[in-house]
This record gives sequence, structure tokens and C-alpha cells, in this order.
Amino acid sequence: MNRWWLLVALTAALCVQLVLNVRLSYSVALSHPKSDFLSLVRDSLANDIVIQLENSVHYPVDGAFADEGWASLVPGNGTVRVNGTPYLLGVFHELRCLDLLRRQLRDTATVPFNVSSPAGRRARHCMQYLRQMVLCRANTRLELVTGLYEEHNVIWEQDYVCRDRRGLYAAVKLNQAGL
Ligand SMILES: *[C@@H]1O[C@H](CO)[C@@H](O)[C@H](O)[C@H]1NC(C)=O
Ligand SMILES: *[C@@H]1O[C@H](CO)[C@@H](O)[C@H](O)[C@H]1NC(C)=O
Repeated sequence: MNRWWLLVALTAALCVQLVLNVRLSYSVALSHPKSDFLSLVRDSLANDIVIQLENSVHYPVDGAFADEGWASLVPGNGTVRVNGTPYLLGVFHELRCLDLLRRQLRDTATVPFNVSSPAGRRARHCMQYLRQMVLCRANTRLELVTGLYEEHNVIWEQDYVCRDRRGLYAAVKLNQAGL
């Protein structure tokens, strides 16, 4: 009986904390005027989080929910307005490029890849853009090589320190709502 009440109390405390956290991040977001989107973004990315990275069944190449899943990573196609001017945040440009390459990969069975076509040129741009972004960040994390003859065979599924993107998504949604 005592344990049951403890569980109820803990669950209630957790709910209260969750609600407070959400309200706190929204009041922080709302205290910035809309012209101050950039400082809101900077503040929203102030904290890093530890995430266990691994392969995922989410965001598949094709299937019923593939388009939906990839689109959900880029709210409102990723466009924000700063002093009335539309911009695409780099993170969303990168995600849209991955999505574009994904679609072409998915469609190669029905639409042969043609590097000279408009779609082919977009794919070429995305390959170059992603290459430049990867080299620009030059991630120096040590990923343990496990295959003697296949040196790309590494252990990468482990904890990673990442920027906490939840605040960024909240800031983008507020901007897109005109707040
Ligand atoms: C996003 O882009 C797609 C394709 O260009 C378009 O159909 C859709 O309306 C856009 N959505 C928003 C919210 O801008
Ligand atoms: C590839 O695209 C270009 C430009 O749209 C077109 O002229 C050419 O015929 C296409 N090639 C093939 C094999 O479809």
C-alpha cells in the first residue's frame, strides 16, 4: 500500500515537473520579441544533451510513413523570417538535402537517375552541400574500427553529446506562427 502511494506521488511529481518545464521554455521563448529570433535560437541551443545514437526504424527510405517522417524533421519546410526576410536554417537545408537524396534513391526503380535533369542537378547540389557541411564541422570523434579488412566497419552506436534541438524547434515554430 505504501509503495503504491509512493508511485502515485512520484508520478504526480513527474507530471508537475514536465508541465513546469514546458511552461518555462515557452515563457523564455515568448519573452523574446520576434525580431530577436537569432538570440532566441542561440539561447535555445545553449545546452548539450547526451543521446544514445543507433540505427533507427524511423525515417525509412520508403514506405507509408517515410515522407511524413522526413517532413516532420523540417517544420514548415524550415523557413523562418527575420525582419521580414525569409531564411532557411542550415540544419533544415541539410535535412531537406538528405530527404531529396532519399527520394531519388527510392525512385530510381521507376525514374532512372539523370544527372543533367533538374532533379539530377538538385541531387548534385545536395551531395556537394552535405560534403561541405561535413568537412566544415570536421567531427573528430574516435569511432573504433572493428573490421581489419573493412576499415569503414566501426562502432559508432554509443552515447553522443549533441546540441539539445528541442528549444530550436520551439523557436522555429514560434517564428513561423508570427510570434
Ligand atoms: C513545403 O513544400 C512543399 C513542396 O514544395 C509544399 O507542397 C508545401 O506546401 C510546403 N509546406 C509549407 C508549410 O510551406
Ligand atoms: C537527361 O536530362 C536532360 C535534361 O533534362 C535531357 O535532355 C536528357 O534527354 C535526359 N537523358 C535521359 C537519358 O533521359
